[in-house]
Amino acid sequence: MTQARNKSLAKTLHGKIDRPIVLVGLMGCGKSSVGKVIAPLLGLEFFDSDTEIENAAGMSIAEIFENYGEPEFRSLERRVFERLLDDQPKIIAAGGGAFVQDDTRDVIQAGAVSIWLQAKLDVLVARTQKRGNRPILAGKNHRVVLRELMEKRRPAYEKATLRVFSGPESIDKTVRVALDALRGFYSA
Ligand code: S3P
Repeated sequence: MTQARNKSLAKTLHGKIDRPIVLVGLMGCGKSSVGKVIAPLLGLEFFDSDTEIENAAGMSIAEIFENYGEPEFRSLERRVFERLLDDQPKIIAAGGGAFVQDDTRDVIQAGAVSIWLQAKLDVLVARTQKRGNRPILAGKNHRVVLRELMEKRRPAYEKATLRVFSGPESIDKTVRVALDALRGFYSA
C-alpha cells in the first residue's frame, strides 16, 4: 500500500527536481536506506558519500580514520561533495558528520536541497548495533556517544532545508514523508 502510494507520489515529482538532494542526519537515521529507495522512484542516481570517499582513497572509512585521522577524512569528505554537487539532480546520502562541518555544509547548502532525517535515540542505537564498522562508535557505548552527538550536532542539522521524522516503522513510511516534504518544497 505504502509502496504503491510512494510510486504515485514520486511520479508527481518527476521533472521537478532541479538539483541534488542530500540526506543528512546522525548515524543510523536511515540516510542510505531511504536514499536507495527514493532514488529509483524519482528516476535519479543514488550516491553515498562514504562509498565515494572509500573509492577515492582506496581504503575503508575505518582505515582512513586510523591511518590519517579525522581531519583528513573531513577534507576528503568536503572534496567529494564539491565533486558530486554539479547541479545534476541525484540523491546523496551524506556521512553523519558532513553537514556538521561548516565548510562542507556551505557546499551542500549552496548546491542542493538538504533533508534532515531526524530519529529518536532508541532508533539510532538499534540501527547502529547492526553494523560494527563506524570508527566514531567503535568500542564505545553507542547510546552514550549518540546521545552526546545528538545534542552537539542538532544546531547544524536544523539548518537543513527540510526535516523528516525517521521513525522505527518501515523505511517506506519515511520515504513517503520525505516525498511529501519534497512535494511541498517544489510546489511552494
Ligand atoms: C560519521 C558517520 C559515518 C561516516 C564516518 C563518520 C559521523 O557515516 O561518515 O564514520 O561523524 O557521524 P554514516 O552516518 O553513514 O554512518
